[in-house]
Formats: sequence, structure tokens, C-alpha cells
Amino acid sequence: MTILIQQPDHHLGDEVEAKTAPINERELVLDGGFPIPQTNSFGHMFRAYHDAESERHEGVENFYRKNHTYQTLDFVKKMREEYAKLNKVEMGIWECCELLNEVVDESDPDLDEPQIEHLLQTAEAIRRDYPDEDWLHLTGLIHDLGKVLNLPSFGGLPQWAVVGDTFPVGCRFDESVVHHKYFKDNPDYNNPLYNTKYGIYSEKGGLNNVMMSWGHDDYMYLVAKGNNTTLPSAALFIIRYHSFYALHREGAYKHLMNDEDVENLKWLHIFNKYDLYSKSKIRIDVERVKPYYLSLIEKCRNLFSAVLPCKAEVVKSSLES
Ligand SMILES: [Fe+2]
Ligand SMILES: [Fe+2]
Repeated sequence: MTILIQQPDHHLGDEVEAKTAPINERELVLDGGFPIPQTNSFGHMFRAYHDAESERHEGVENFYRKNHTYQTLDFVKKMREEYAKLNKVEMGIWECCELLNEVVDESDPDLDEPQIEHLLQTAEAIRRDYPDEDWLHLTGLIHDLGKVLNLPSFGGLPQWAVVGDTFPVGCRFDESVVHHKYFKDNPDYNNPLYNTKYGIYSEKGGLNNVMMSWGHDDYMYLVAKGNNTTLPSAALFIIRYHSFYALHREGAYKHLMNDEDVENLKWLHIFNKYDLYSKSKIRIDVERVKPYYLSLIEKCRNLFSAVLPCKAEVVKSSLES
């Protein structure tokens, strides 16, 4: 797939304009040419993990203490093996979007809206700037659906195994990973097989061969692959690594990337601005935009040659009840 980095088209369609109009122009700043709000749902700076006054600070720090302690290579291998079976729950994309409203992301210092609004905020913001990239709209809509792992019907995994920033396991934990100090209690931290720069991996061996901490990113990737998606490589890369902030924000772990990863990372950089900065006070009228996304889901077979089964088999879980 050829990656073309386009200049965002800031012309707003009527439907989108109506939803984005409440943003005060004075609240916007430029980040690489992308207009973004300065504050999150709580009126704080985005990703303020070290802001002692952040209302969610303590809960988020507690979350990462568990996450960094328990996410080992062995744990990830077991979870991937179990969830790759895709043999538990079947449902359609929109049904899953609505189901996601029951999930609260304790790791996120920015988001306090229903999850479906975040999905639609992300997809709508992308649609505004990249109107012809249907695959990217759909990617925005489905990128967080893996958070259903937190629900009982999908195994009821604890938050530390579902959400939060992700990172490679099986090699040294880079210091740019948020709350790095908590890795010292991870059994892999002192394992000489896993605590070197490359660990069990090789230079430019490709992220596809790297085990990432387990969560909604890798799960949704497995779901898409297991359903024989033909979404482009860049879409799968976005789904799989959108929480890998150490890579796409800090530039760490690039020594593990191959040429395809380098190309796909360009799209992830674009996507991430929409994923992060759409978590603002911009409200989405779900019922108003629903028809477009239902039509996109229905069209997906034609658009992407059977990208994702539209009525069923889109999301399956594997844990035995
Ligand atoms: Fe996510
Ligand atoms: Fe997201």
C-alpha cells in the first residue's frame, strides 16, 4: 500500500460543522498543523500524568503500578493464545460500539464521556479532514472496541489488562514509558533474557514479531485478523499500536521497526491526533451521525472486499465462561 500524507482539508461539511461549531476558536492551538483544543473533558492539559492536581492522578498512577507489575512476556503469551481462539461472543460493529458504553477507562486522564462518543468524535474528526479515506473513518470507529475485554461476557479482565499505554515485553522497558518506575516490580525487569535493548528480538525485525503488553489494541487486531479483514495494513497498524505512546510520541523502540512499520507509523501519527484531541468538550449527536456509520458498516464488504463481516462475527471473545 502506498502511503500518501495529505494536507488536511479543513472545509467542514454541514453535518460536522454543526457539531464542531461550539468550539471557541481561542481554545485552539496548532500541533503540527492540526487544530486542537488545549484542554480535555476536565479542563486540564492532555495526558497530564504527573499533574498532582489532576483529579484522576491517583487512580491513574495506581493503575500503572498494577499494569507495569503484571504485564510480563509470559502473561502476554498466555493472553494472546487464549484470545486468538475467538470462540466466545459474536456481535456486529454498531452493537459493540453501544456495548462499549458500559466500560469506564480508568487509565485515561482525559476522557469522561461515554465511550461511543469518543469513537464517533475520533471518526468524525477524521472524516472532516480526510473525507475520502473511508477506511480511516472505520478505523476510528472500531479502534477501541477491544475494551469490551473488561466486560464479563468477554472475560471481565481487570483494567490493567485492557487499557492504558502499551509497550513491548521481552526486551528492556524504555524509560519513556509513562510511570516507568513501577516496572521494577515486574519479574521481567531483572531477567537478563528480557532486559537488554533487543531482548528476544532483533534489529529491524518488525513490530509484527514483537509481543506488546496485552490490552484492547492487540485484542482488536486479533479480532480483525481472525475475521479475515482486508483493511489496509495501515489500519491494522493503527488498531494494534495506537496506545504505544513510547513509539509514536516519544520515538522509542524504532530499532525494532522494519520498512513497513516506518510507512505505517506515518498514518498512526495522523490518527493519534484525532484519537487524543477528540477527547474534548466536542459533543456528538449520536443519532444524527449513526446513519453514516451504519451505511459504512454495511458498505464495508464492497469497500474493502469483505473487510469485516457486517452483521456478525465482528467481535468474538475466547474465554470460557
Ligand atoms: Fe484505545
Ligand atoms: Fe481511542
